[in-house]
Amino acid sequence: APLQHCNTFGIVARAHTLVRVRSAQDVHDLLADHRLARQPLFVLGGGSNIVLTGDVKPVVLKMEIKGLRLLEETDKAWIVEAGAGEIWHETVAWTLARGYPGLENLALIPGTVGAAPVQNIGAYGVELQDRFHSLVAIDLATGQPFTLDAAQCAFGYRDSVFKHTAPEAPHEGGGLPGHWGRGMGLAGRAVITHVRFLLAKDWRPELGYLDLERKRAEAGVERPSAQQIFDWVCEIRRAKLPDPAVVGNAGSFFKNPTVTPEQCADIIARDPKIVHYPMPDGTIKLAAGWLIDACGWKGKSVGKAGVYEKQALVLVNRGRGADSVTGGEVMTLAKAIQTSVYERFGIRLEPEPVVV
Ligand code: EPU
Repeated sequence: APLQHCNTFGIVARAHTLVRVRSAQDVHDLLADHRLARQPLFVLGGGSNIVLTGDVKPVVLKMEIKGLRLLEETDKAWIVEAGAGEIWHETVAWTLARGYPGLENLALIPGTVGAAPVQNIGAYGVELQDRFHSLVAIDLATGQPFTLDAAQCAFGYRDSVFKHTAPEAPHEGGGLPGHWGRGMGLAGRAVITHVRFLLAKDWRPELGYLDLERKRAEAGVERPSAQQIFDWVCEIRRAKLPDPAVVGNAGSFFKNPTVTPEQCADIIARDPKIVHYPMPDGTIKLAAGWLIDACGWKGKSVGKAGVYEKQALVLVNRGRGADSVTGGEVMTLAKAIQTSVYERFGIRLEPEPVVV
């Protein structure tokens, strides 16, 4: 099956086998199928956070489980459940239309609901973990469903238990251990079918991010509604991030690195304008986009892989259709950027998307 339309970079690649998953039952059926069950599996959502460097040999599970519903309402919160195959942005819009605020800062993030916890998506001062209740997943070794709460997901900055492989051997019978936590891994061992959000009724606007505060001041609004914030976030993102439907990309290509205050002071001495934010744990987060920009990469290309002209943290596909960028070209550009940032600042940038 062709995968070009299943990854937002628009890279040309094929899956040897692709199975569409529309229900938990489909996962059971797949695991019961002797031809497929023993093969390695690769779970695909919206394909907005992957770089395909060749054809995919593992069996691709294309997650298409739908469904949006209010699972529970308490006097303090609404708990909303979404199928893993729902489009993230449509899910955010649905919650707001129903009058459940909380996800507005995460508007317009590409991808599906099931992919959101994997990298703990975040934008404009809110991360998924701040609005997360629990998720339902299926153990790919046994076909058994299980539920994870936020602690068990071990969320970190663009990180969760789903991004790590298990260091420990599977328990007898091939099943997963009864507990999960930091240092343990579920990558390739489970597939998320549903995600539940905890949306508090004592909602307050999150305007800590400078771009949003600027929008609020411009509009002259003291306390904006969730819908207003949603609209502002959409405007900000449309102004500086490329629409994957027009220009192929996978969002931020590198994570924002953290350094010690000493390292930061060192860099400030040489580059006083460096963009940096102190973190609660005493480390300092640097804007990777700024570092790449400072090395002169903005708007540059290597082959058909380019650095977006309005946000140096985003790598883009300068090709089209059959003439698209290859995953190899993207990785060559990424390595060149890593080398120049390392040579100038002594900082190693870590890629954010999953390289397949
Ligand atoms: N900057 C530059 N030059 C650039 C790009 C950025 O100088 O080419 C500077 C900006 O002026 C700004 C700072 O770097 O002062 C930060 O830039 P921006 O506000 O665009 O945010 P970011 O740190 O680059 C992160 C997330 C985005 C998220 C935004 C908004 C990561 C890796 N990226 O980007 O997430 O939307 O903040 O919250 O954490 C994604 O993960 O795919 C993604 C798009």
